[in-house]
Amino acid sequence: MSVTFRPARADELQRIQELIVTSINDLTERHGFGAMATVRPAAFQLFSFKEDPRGLWVAEDGGDIVGSAFSWVCGELWFLAELFIAPRMQGSGIGREMLRRTLCHADEAGAKTRALITFTFNTISQGLYLRHGMFPRLPVYMFSAERKALAIAGADARVELRRAEASESHIAALAAVDMSALGFSRENHHRYLLSEPTTKGFLLYDGDECIGYVYIASTGHVGPLAVARSDAMAPALRSTLRIAAESGSDPVSAFLPGTCEAALRVAADHRMRITFPMVLVSDRAFGDWSCYLPRNPGFM
Ligand SMILES: CC(C)(COP(=O)(O)OP(=O)(O)OC[C@H]1O[C@@H](n2cnc3c(N)ncnc32)[C@H](O)[C@@H]1OP(=O)(O)O)[C@@H](O)C(=O)NCCC(=O)NCCS
Repeated sequence: MSVTFRPARADELQRIQELIVTSINDLTERHGFGAMATVRPAAFQLFSFKEDPRGLWVAEDGGDIVGSAFSWVCGELWFLAELFIAPRMQGSGIGREMLRRTLCHADEAGAKTRALITFTFNTISQGLYLRHGMFPRLPVYMFSAERKALAIAGADARVELRRAEASESHIAALAAVDMSALGFSRENHHRYLLSEPTTKGFLLYDGDECIGYVYIASTGHVGPLAVARSDAMAPALRSTLRIAAESGSDPVSAFLPGTCEAALRVAADHRMRITFPMVLVSDRAFGDWSCYLPRNPGFM
């Protein structure tokens, strides 16, 4: 084997998604969850590449891409969005080499926190991360439900959803919520989400007060959802689920931290089911997870 490592190019990011889907489905099928991934547009990868290409790497073997890694940095956080090795090449040190290279990205960017979300049932990935000083810290569950079951549950009149746009005042409001929920602003990531044709962003209002934000994808997926105070989580999620259900998508899904009791209660009340157990891994504690629901394992 003569595996080489090099920075990724923009024109191969979409092709890399095929490797990732193969690697995910191999893992989830082996663990009895069935195939879960399908190839999607590499829009966030391309956006991140244009912002800062230092976190995107590939491993090649005889001209074939056999591994890929993608990390982004936002404020003080370095986040490993993807690390995938072709099934036939796993267990031979490629993942370790890719991780080493993306961790240099964290050092170069002066990140204070290193984090990622991985599969709870993957002992190999968790073993690899804890050998690099990142420890399992927070369970995160993918929840899903049929639209009809959600529609029964109703909404919370306290929280109103108003469409967000990429204006200076809305970006400032979104960033302010991030500061209280996460401790850093994801301004650039909001500009990305607000430009996505398949996603709608909303500011959450309690009367005249902006108490949070949420994004709803046309697939029926909810998130990220952030609130400035934890007592707003339950009404915010209830109102969001109603809007997501009314939009006609079937099913409706969300990614909920295992310590966010308010969100878990709402999910249970709405008869949502856990479809996937995952875990947030990091080298130090960060964020208030009673105030923040990640979008997915790559975006956080
Ligand atoms: C997870 C993954 C990226 C690791 O890459 P890899 O090339 O297979 O792994 P490597 O051979 O580089 O490293 C394996 C490391 O895993 C750890 N490991 C392996 N099995 C382990 C176990 N049972 N318990 C604890 N740690 C284990 C060890 O630290 C080992 O390193 P070491 O041999 O130096 O001790 C790869 O297996 C993969 O793509 N898996 C499927 C998709 C996935 O889960 N990706 C992670 C998403 S965040």
